[in-house]
Amino acid sequence: MKRISAAFALAATLAAAGLLVSASAQNAPANKENGGAPTAATPVAAATVREYPIPSGQGPSCLKHLGLTVSQTRMGQMGGTGALPASTHGNPQPSSGDTGRAANLNSVIPRFLSTFRSNPEQAAAILNEKFAVSGADLYRWNCQACHGPDGQGATPEINSVLGPVQGTSPVMTRKRLEARGLDVDDDMIQQVTELAEASLRDRFQHGGKNMPSFEYLRADEVEALFGYLEKLASVPPTKRDGLLVPESAARVGEHIVRGTCHVCHDATGPGSGHTAMTQGTIPSLASIPRDHSLSGIVHQVQYGSSSTMKMTGGDVMPAYPYFTEEEIAALYLVAYSHRP
Ligand code: HEC
Ligand code: HEC
Repeated sequence: MKRISAAFALAATLAAAGLLVSASAQNAPANKENGGAPTAATPVAAATVREYPIPSGQGPSCLKHLGLTVSQTRMGQMGGTGALPASTHGNPQPSSGDTGRAANLNSVIPRFLSTFRSNPEQAAAILNEKFAVSGADLYRWNCQACHGPDGQGATPEINSVLGPVQGTSPVMTRKRLEARGLDVDDDMIQQVTELAEASLRDRFQHGGKNMPSFEYLRADEVEALFGYLEKLASVPPTKRDGLLVPESAARVGEHIVRGTCHVCHDATGPGSGHTAMTQGTIPSLASIPRDHSLSGIVHQVQYGSSSTMKMTGGDVMPAYPYFTEEEIAALYLVAYSHRP
């Protein structure tokens, strides 16, 4: 207890000196009721303080929780237009070991699709086969839509992840402090970096002011994600560097739905019937497999709203060209199995 509060006081001093990227300092709302003019990206509605963490994947979308429309925010729209990733998952790491052949998402999806009519039980098992995925994949599914491919987000609305991650590195923190001519000792470095790490972990668990919570991430997923965040932040490699975690196609779909689609789409509710769309309703995730074929969804995700939709002047969906067809199929199957 004593140690924590000491570290806290120390962190406060360093923050005051501008030497620590403090979570609380960075989280100050861009347009707090301080007379500051609201920016286009953060309208007044966004300033209302939310009383509970935004749940991911259930209930109303993240934007609805915040009282924002798609055109009022950059959230969910920072993914970038880059080409499909050279799929990092589905690498040759043996999974459960007994099949003699390494499972990967790209082989699981076609096998699932060719089995699910004739043998639903076997198909369900295929959907749960494990293969290895990297922290880079986890980042792409859960974080990239808001923080962009490089982690920098969109200030002032979406803070960069880089500073807070650098704050967890003893090497970088020491360098940073020494560059300011400060007398640093190991104890101090340890306290400051442990505090920074605890604050990052707390953010995954509970979200932020406007950031949804990622309480669904398992401990091993958080470690792998950390390893990739360290790479983005150019932190010297730690033991978390390059960690792989076992995932199933069902889990991949869950990540993408919760970490990306749910930013704008409610979990349940009306679909894209003509009236709903003209009123600007974004179809619910549950309605999507009912109203669209798999190939229709792949197209919508990889290319974004159709040009007719763009001409209506309503909210449009950006393209997510960094999701593979197999990944989109995985999310379709998750939405499909949860349809009402
Ligand atoms: C729906 C959009 C959204 C998603 C998805 C998202 N974030 Fe954030 N993130 C934000 C916003 C907005 C902020 C700015 C602070 C706030 O409002 O909570 C932020 C801030 C942060 C910060 C900066 C904290 C600080 O103290 O400066 C970190 C680190 C971070 N996010 C990590 C992540 C990681 C890792 C993921 C993926 C697991 C992720 N975020 C996914 C919206 C998002
Ligand atoms: C930034 C907000 C945003 C995110 C994130 C988002 N969408 Fe959308 N989506 C929209 C909007 C707005 C519409 C309505 C306009 C349209 O149909 O193009 C829409 C419509 C759709 C439609 C219906 C198209 C039609 O013609 O009826 C599908 C399917 C869809 N989204 C799938 C997804 C999937 C899958 C994801 C996750 C990978 C996703 N969306 C993520 C904003 C978003």
